[in-house]
Amino acid sequence: MAKPSASATPAVVGAQKKPSTFRIFGVGALTGASILIALVAYFFSSESALIVERARRAVAKPSPTSTTTAGPAGGTSVSGVPLTGVIHDYYWTVTNFTDAPDGVSRTVLGINNKAGDQALIEVNLGDRIRVHVQNGLTAPTSIHWHGMFQNGSNIMDGPSGVAQCPIPPGKLFVYDFIAAQTGSYWWHSHYMAQYVDGLRGPLIIHDPKEKTKYGYTDERTLTLADWYNRAVSNDLLAGYLSPTNDGSEPVPDSILVNGNGFFECKYASVSQHCVAKDSTTAMTRITVNPGTTYRFRLISMSSFTAYNFSIDGLKLTIIETDGVDTMPYAVDRITINNGQRYSVLVTTPPSTKAKNTYIRVIGLHDYPWTASPPGPGYRFNGAAILQYAANSLALPTTVMPKTFIDFDQSKVGSNPPAAAPSKATVTVPISFTFQTTATDPIQRAYVAFNPDLKNLHTYQAPATPVLIDLLKNKKTVAQLSPNSNVFELKRHDVVDLIVINYDGGEHPWHLHGHTFWIMGQGTATAFSQIPKTFPTTNPPRRDVVTLQACDLDPTSGDCAAGNFGYTVLRFVADNPGVWFFHCHIEWHIEAGLALVFAEALSDLKAAQYPFPQCYTDLCV
Ligand code: C2O
Repeated sequence: MAKPSASATPAVVGAQKKPSTFRIFGVGALTGASILIALVAYFFSSESALIVERARRAVAKPSPTSTTTAGPAGGTSVSGVPLTGVIHDYYWTVTNFTDAPDGVSRTVLGINNKAGDQALIEVNLGDRIRVHVQNGLTAPTSIHWHGMFQNGSNIMDGPSGVAQCPIPPGKLFVYDFIAAQTGSYWWHSHYMAQYVDGLRGPLIIHDPKEKTKYGYTDERTLTLADWYNRAVSNDLLAGYLSPTNDGSEPVPDSILVNGNGFFECKYASVSQHCVAKDSTTAMTRITVNPGTTYRFRLISMSSFTAYNFSIDGLKLTIIETDGVDTMPYAVDRITINNGQRYSVLVTTPPSTKAKNTYIRVIGLHDYPWTASPPGPGYRFNGAAILQYAANSLALPTTVMPKTFIDFDQSKVGSNPPAAAPSKATVTVPISFTFQTTATDPIQRAYVAFNPDLKNLHTYQAPATPVLIDLLKNKKTVAQLSPNSNVFELKRHDVVDLIVINYDGGEHPWHLHGHTFWIMGQGTATAFSQIPKTFPTTNPPRRDVVTLQACDLDPTSGDCAAGNFGYTVLRFVADNPGVWFFHCHIEWHIEAGLALVFAEALSDLKAAQYPFPQCYTDLCV
């Protein structure tokens, strides 16, 4: 990647001409088949017991340390969801140990000396989740519950430097919150780039009505993740953010499905211990019965790579985007970006036709994704197997179709349909780019709260978390470090974020504490060209959006003169808290592609301050 100068001129690699695009969302979302919501009394208590049991199997013995438990604020409901009274306690020690998820041994991070995938959190709507996190590392850590609104429990959100001080080595913190949403989520470290090393896993919240609402028999979870077998995240980060690097991000070595991947040992270096996998172990096998409808929960825990997901010859009917139930929408293939989740219904063929089938999880490389290609030994294709009958290890003979009906973000709306507010009360333009400066030779990301890259700041996690500075230290937003990139929102603001991307790559941005409606995306050369009004009938809604890239100049490979990509997101400031908004490419958050919303501060203070001691004790 060519290194741009200190000016705001962005540079990209992989110069492919991309057609100019302009899309407005929110139309056509009502045309999906309507779903009969049967009135069914749910076997709530027995299912809860089952889930508690499953959860217990996923964790190890209780941690030996004890502490005061920070509890949710009391009351009988959260965000209108009645509490069930069921509490799930998970006892986690964050550890490092040796593992070889793709065949190559290295030091990894996980829970109780097992891969993060196995630390599954699975509960019912209205249950209470208590995760006792003992930091068994020599480095600090913190855990974020990706997609949880944490309404009334901002201190449990997890990002270090924003919502908490990280948990020091040897210390315990109990994350304690109510599962007030349903759907597919995940948890991951939110301290530096730790989740790249494996500190990430699934989090599922069942809706008592889910099976009858969508008509499926059983479900399977597939976590999709990228994996680096050559170095740990701190070393990768040091190489990435070095003055001699031109902004090229580290590219993963393999793709993991449910924590299992494949790397060709002949490409491992002599210092690496690599055990070749055979055809029975090289791919995760998802066992199913013929003639049955399953819900597949697809959870991208990736740090860099986006994927194209498909199952040879089978339709994927989307019913969930990032915890939002959607109108059923059948496609052949879905592009899944970092942090995004989809639930899809898959109906297996009858037994006469059922045969083992490839599940494709294909890494997307080059423009506008990772720019650089992966190295030798990386396997792009065929990352898992849909397998019938538990003892049939036969490799599939299915082939990938040549053409696909692809997922189109603009065509998926909520179920039941939900209109976006008709107009915004506040518009927040945000522009960003990557650059070096006269005083900083390292290429970093810079963010501005205006459309024109004026007054740029690269995000740096402050030593005192934003939440503590605002509430305990009584600072105003203006008194915070400009590198905390904090923007204040008033309670009940209807916010339009107009995110302007002066980079030639697409970026998956995630907002904590909320879902947003995706109102429109496109490219333009002036802020005034961005539409001011958008259709509001059931636009797509989720918590990670892939931001539109600029149009490239075919000869220079840079953004065409003055061109940028834009994405308009709308949400309601109904959740008092400080909420991170950042690119979910982990390297980019470390490069500073992040900002913080301080939302409804006086309500936040009234409801959630003073802080409990177990929380302030983390700040040493
Ligand atoms: Cu998965 Cu700050 O996010």
